[in-house]
Amino acid sequence: MNDLDQLVQDAQADFAQAHTPAELENAKARYLGKAGRVTELLKALGKFSPEEKKTRGAQINATKQQVEGALTARRQALAEAELEQQLKAEALDVTLPGRRRGEGAVHPIARTMERIEQIFASMGFDVADGPEIETDWYSFTALNNPENHPARSMQDTFYVDSKDAEGRWLNLRPHTSPMQIRYAQAHACKYAGQPTMPDIRVIAPGRTFRVDSDATHSPMFHQVEGLWVGENVSFKDLKALYLDFIQAFFETTDLKLRFRPSYFPFTEPSAEIDIMFESGPLTGRWLEVSGSGQVHPQVIRNMGLDPERSIGFAFGSGIDRLAMLRYGISDLRLFFDGDLRFLSQFK
Ligand code: PHE
Repeated sequence: MNDLDQLVQDAQADFAQAHTPAELENAKARYLGKAGRVTELLKALGKFSPEEKKTRGAQINATKQQVEGALTARRQALAEAELEQQLKAEALDVTLPGRRRGEGAVHPIARTMERIEQIFASMGFDVADGPEIETDWYSFTALNNPENHPARSMQDTFYVDSKDAEGRWLNLRPHTSPMQIRYAQAHACKYAGQPTMPDIRVIAPGRTFRVDSDATHSPMFHQVEGLWVGENVSFKDLKALYLDFIQAFFETTDLKLRFRPSYFPFTEPSAEIDIMFESGPLTGRWLEVSGSGQVHPQVIRNMGLDPERSIGFAFGSGIDRLAMLRYGISDLRLFFDGDLRFLSQFK
């Protein structure tokens, strides 16, 4: 083997030893750099005669090309190896199961509200929504519950230490009854001066607030207000309507209703509505589910109606209470703790 073949072989072996681009550049310098072996050979050409220079020069050039060829091949091999490694490192295992989004569900109270809305809608009732921060007037005064009247303390109200733009004191509504006035006002005005009186049928479900907290009371709870005012709406209609509702809600006719005399400033007469199941785990106990009564004439007046011509009833039922009975839950606070172990049972 002549010296030039040997040089090519050395270069190939050297390049093969290089495992990074930097190592390869160092190896390249040893052959093609300023003091590299190929460069030295070319420099040494000067010692040869013109004839020899020609052949020797051509041989060295061929050698140089071979070295350069080996270098390019190694560069490519290194680049490919690097790409392969990168691909391996970033590889996706397409057989891994995907990350699923947790499956949500409607909260049991929201679900109960929807159920109540559906039942009353099917009986021709409108569904209305009202403010949770109320004025003194809507929460009490308009409901025939004047300032300083002891009946105001029937509800342990959260008062807000500020007034609205018109200077009225604010509170977190302790019941949904303000919606009786708000809704009737909004609808009665259309009938002002007309020969027929309005027929108002509405329920207003929503959040209510009282300073109260134990297994069956939460400072935030839910009520559904019901109002039916017309020219000839009686307590008998309330009984029939409420029985229909309760039977539809609990999906059974195996229960009784009881109207127990009570007092509310905004109804006269007033009654608590109790239910008793005649079968199932809750059999034999009267359970209070609602306040109710015939709308007080003063309240009819505050609605913008004439109590000589409009009459009707209202009720206010505890939604959480109804949900507890329907789902057999003994502690109301479970609804609002946000514990997924409890809530996921309602999927
Ligand atoms: N607002 C009353 C309460 O919260 C319930 C009620 C509503 C009573 C409508 C009579 C008529 O206790």
